[in-house]
Amino acid sequence: NPDHVEECLAFAVTVARQAGSVIREAFYGRGASSVPQAKDGNPSDLVTVADQQVEALVFALIRARYPSHQLIGEESTQGKKWQLTKTPTWIVDPIDGTSNFAHGFPFVAISLALAIDEQLVLGVVYNPILDQLYTARTGHGAWLNETTRLPLPSARASAPLPPVSECLVAFEYGSDRSVKVLNSKLSTLHRLLAPRIGDTAVSGAQVHGVRSLGSGALNMCLVAQGALDAYWEIGSHLWDIAAGAVIVREAGGLVVDGQGLYQNQRGQNEWTPAFDHLARKYLAIRPARENAGPVGANQPSSKHQMALTLLAYIEDVPVTRDGE
Ligand code: IPD
Repeated sequence: NPDHVEECLAFAVTVARQAGSVIREAFYGRGASSVPQAKDGNPSDLVTVADQQVEALVFALIRARYPSHQLIGEESTQGKKWQLTKTPTWIVDPIDGTSNFAHGFPFVAISLALAIDEQLVLGVVYNPILDQLYTARTGHGAWLNETTRLPLPSARASAPLPPVSECLVAFEYGSDRSVKVLNSKLSTLHRLLAPRIGDTAVSGAQVHGVRSLGSGALNMCLVAQGALDAYWEIGSHLWDIAAGAVIVREAGGLVVDGQGLYQNQRGQNEWTPAFDHLARKYLAIRPARENAGPVGANQPSSKHQMALTLLAYIEDVPVTRDGE
């Protein structure tokens, strides 16, 4: 029921702000709670005491308010088998951008999403260091600091998307640094950055630039805002991107899976956690005015075309699924 979702969103905002105070204090305090430890012996996958404290706080707040709801959180669920059910489920990343947090690089966020009946219905991403709060509720738009609608007013977001060569694209290196994965990602980067040779033989896209903020959730928010044209990643967990996906979609952007397919099991044109809970490869495309001409529900629009064009540059990376 929509009233319930509205109430859940208001609650999620208070939780994000409360958790944000803890994150901010630890970020500036630089005490023991911000010291990174390697997760499962992987020095590129970091966790701090603050991640665990914030997740415990968020879980306790949600349990007290909605005892029947289920909880999925990076620190409690990673490595375990889980699955969305019909029960309302909160998807929590207590600190997205843990390595940024540990280094004092201010792109750090708490990410909260709620799925009801296996569909994402709200997303909240809060960067307590820059005090930027991104919120969205399905069907009700996406907002920055609750007052400014996304995308931010700019000629770019109200114009059709530019050619790929004029795009600013984000991606993340991720925590899997195996030679195989790294080579795949670097060869994609090479293809995106390298010059285009000739008209047809495409050796490179020569995009304007590639960025890597260190937080999947914040990359998504910058796509929603219109500051990035696209963001792709391979091997993200649901908690990195679930809230961001709602925010991108509600801002008028597109989130697709790695096949360039937009159909979930219910025939809807969107990526949903129910069928791809660990995104092997996905892309978010920023809001833009669609190309003129009839565009049917399943017909490519300019955002779909952009997604397909970019996907052609992105090499697949083998990812393992947690707990499977
Ligand atoms: C990580 C960040 C990073 C991405 C990793 C994520 P965490 O989340 O989103 O940008 O490359 O794949 O795991 O661990 O900081 O919450």
